[in-house]
Amino acid sequence: MKIFVTGGAGYIGTHTCVELLNDGYEVVVYDNFSNSSIEALRRVEQITQKSLQMIEGDIRDEVLLTSSMQGCDGVIHFAGLKAVGESVEKPLEYYDNNVHGTLCLLRAMQKNSIKTIVFSSSATVYGDPEFLPLTEKHPLRTTNPYGYTKLVIEEILRDLFKSDPTWKIMILRYFNPVGAHQSGLIGEDPQGIPNNLMPFIAQVAVGRREFLNVFGDDYQTPDGTGVRDYIHVVDLAQGHLRALEALKTPQCTAINLGTGRGYSVLEVVKAFAEASKKPINYTISPRREGDIAACYADPKNAKELLNWQAKRTLKQMCEDAWNFQSKNPEGIK
Ligand code: NAD
Ligand code: WQD
Repeated sequence: MKIFVTGGAGYIGTHTCVELLNDGYEVVVYDNFSNSSIEALRRVEQITQKSLQMIEGDIRDEVLLTSSMQGCDGVIHFAGLKAVGESVEKPLEYYDNNVHGTLCLLRAMQKNSIKTIVFSSSATVYGDPEFLPLTEKHPLRTTNPYGYTKLVIEEILRDLFKSDPTWKIMILRYFNPVGAHQSGLIGEDPQGIPNNLMPFIAQVAVGRREFLNVFGDDYQTPDGTGVRDYIHVVDLAQGHLRALEALKTPQCTAINLGTGRGYSVLEVVKAFAEASKKPINYTISPRREGDIAACYADPKNAKELLNWQAKRTLKQMCEDAWNFQSKNPEGIK
């Protein structure tokens, strides 16, 4: 089986490519390297001792996309922009890259008669939870342009399936991916100041930042700080292989990929300090606009439908994130 991986040079993409190659898939990565580097793909080859095909291109370049995916059996679609705050500043870029880009991808797939796709959605499509844990039946809504792009793409995929029920579509709603491959060769490599908690903490531990701002300690949670469902990126990557296996039959299914367990900001700080043996200085700051108190998955459907379950603990997530950060203090160049 040959899989076309858009955005395959990115954080989740590289970890998924490792799992695909280790499992005997052939891999074609299509990426414009707007948030990644070719070096990350070389490292995927180094880890697996296998080679993959790399194509530099934008998903909005439908002509290049159409010719590049010839001969592939399925697509995993990671390519897109993902920063919530930036999406508020630059909504047109987000809709263009994510929504227009996905339309180009789906048309290119149609032209090649490829009808199998795994799509990266996000728990952000649930908005502020009405109940926890979040099941896939929770109402869908969101509060920012990034979230809307995910929601709109999900709807496009559901409409596509209604129009042609021979498609095989898996929508994976990720919770909070963290950690890194145990080799320390690949991991999360944000440009500029990290938006997300774990890479920010990692940069404090390695001395690149002085302290962490804990955004709010007055939430309705056990210690007042935000609670999230952190999931090890290798578990997440393996979920994509189970999704491909489940797509033997036509369907359009949305599934949560999370652990089902939430941790607070202060619990993550403590776990990271233990894993890195470095003090993590922090200060309590005001709440970040748009943040919710708590969010964690009901992972039952993933177990039943994909035969997949997250295995790695918060300790492992922190140890692996630290291993990557300490080996690559300035990221992947
Ligand atoms: P990432 O930025 O590391 O990877 C995305 C990759 O897509 C990058 O290599 C980038 O260069 C590429 N890309 C972006 N726009 C492109 C375009 N127009 N054409 C070709 N390539 C393009 O992000 P990630 O964390 O690996 O996320 C992958 C996917 O998962 C994204 O769709 C993201 O929205 C989704 N997701 C991520 C998280 C998270 O917290 N990391 C959570 C939920 C969902
Ligand atoms: C986690 C917790 C913060 C940074 C985002 C997107 C979501 C998905 C995953 C793509 C919260 C707190 C954070 C900091 C802090 N991405 N925090 N200080 O907000 O749950 O989700 O990434 O789909 O769509 O919204 O993740 O890592 O930013 O925050 O105190 O410097 O850490 O308030 O409680 P979030 P996060």
